[in-house]
Amino acid sequence: MKSILVIDDEIEICESIKMILDYAHYNVDFSTSPDEGLEKILEGSYDAILLDIQMPSLNGFEVLKKIQDMEIPTNIIMISAHSSLENAVKATKLGAFDFIEKPIDRDKLLISIRNAVEKTLLLKENRKLKDNLEEGDILGSSVAIKNIIETIKRVAKTEARVLITGENGTGKELVAKAVHKNSSRASKELIEVNCAAIPNELIESELFGHEKGSFTGAVNKRIGKFEQANNSTLFLDEIGDMSLQAQAKVLRAIEDGKIERVGGNNKINVDVRIISATNKDIINEIKEHRFREDLFHRLNVIPIHVPPLRERKEDIEILSKHFAEFICRKNGFPPINFDNSAMELLKSLQWTGNVRELRNLVERIIIMVPKQSISAKDINSLIPSSDINIDEIMGVNNSFQEFKEKAERAFILKQLESNSWNISRTADVLGIQRSHLYGKMKKYNIEK
Ligand SMILES: Nc1ncnc2c1ncn2[C@@H]1O[C@H](COP(=O)(O)OP(=O)(O)OP(=O)(O)O)[C@@H](O)[C@H]1O
Ligand SMILES: [Mg+2]
Repeated sequence: MKSILVIDDEIEICESIKMILDYAHYNVDFSTSPDEGLEKILEGSYDAILLDIQMPSLNGFEVLKKIQDMEIPTNIIMISAHSSLENAVKATKLGAFDFIEKPIDRDKLLISIRNAVEKTLLLKENRKLKDNLEEGDILGSSVAIKNIIETIKRVAKTEARVLITGENGTGKELVAKAVHKNSSRASKELIEVNCAAIPNELIESELFGHEKGSFTGAVNKRIGKFEQANNSTLFLDEIGDMSLQAQAKVLRAIEDGKIERVGGNNKINVDVRIISATNKDIINEIKEHRFREDLFHRLNVIPIHVPPLRERKEDIEILSKHFAEFICRKNGFPPINFDNSAMELLKSLQWTGNVRELRNLVERIIIMVPKQSISAKDINSLIPSSDINIDEIMGVNNSFQEFKEKAERAFILKQLESNSWNISRTADVLGIQRSHLYGKMKKYNIEK
């Protein structure tokens, strides 16, 4: 049952509000003295507080300030018989959730209370998640994220291999790091390999190391990632991009618990826990014979799928607030907040680049919009290509050639953003050579 506190010097008002809210199954306390009210707040945990502005001993705005200083997760609705616009503006400016005039309208009260309580719940969940997990941890209020956090906690302590799947920017790396951080291997560094970033001919030496002179260019002996990750965790990122040849070697290393450096004769024992991740549809990769089924089963002991952001839009509020706070603090900017229109807009977007795209947009907003309260209008102009504006591309007097070029530019820009400006990956998605992509970027003046 949700708890509400009413602070108003007129007992009749307190009682009438209590009656309305009791009937709607809220648990209601009231106080006719602000000081007593403040004490109650310290002791209890109220999901919303209704606070009168005109009280004899202490002005409601001063009480508001005192409650805010307590930094407790709640939301405050100001009430006043003197329903001046000035009061309403002042209340919201000072951070009150809402303003209701007396005599109190029942429906208005219930709606406002419901919204305030919902917001407090988000706030509490966010705090709880923050308390549980430190900086760089996984935030979200969706069932999917909660389940992921639960799975991480459960699996981290074991030695089980984890395969993380999900689109670009969904937070796979974050999940991998959280598993390692909560494991018994946490005192050792997590060793990461991005399998997509390493050319095929070098991946073996990257993973297993090589002996001096084992191939042209092997000037010195090199210790590979498997050896570096001994007694720790090895994160094989983008495993879906690993060549079949390298997959065979990784499989052998997993089965034997031993590796061999390229050009070496000795088997070296390694005790490595493997976490892997991919944004590819790995089952399809197996069907297409690009990924070994036996290796898949070895890696996929505990599967963790991170759904795309558009399938868990509840997370957008917590994430955007978190990024805003973090980025403002990092850059020494005053904190900003998104108004309702802005939040609605953020929730309506498709987020093909997922959480990373959201983070980048929040950063862009903070840098480009010199305001502290951000509305949808401020954001609209900053969503450049993700929602390609066909009218703008078409123009009025555009020739067909101009249209094609503008569309191509917008498309390339969108793909670059979706792939975090990773040129190789974007070229892959577009089905063109990297050099070709560079050429296009130059032609269209595209820069990060
Ligand atoms: N649930 C989350 N809570 C907080 N931050 C998140 C969350 N999910 C993702 N992020 C942030 O979003 C960005 C992208 O996340 P990450 O690099 O883990 O994604 P990824 O799935 O590995 O992407 P890619 O497939 O492109 O490698 C990072 O800055 C990360 O910290
Ligand atoms: Mg990643």
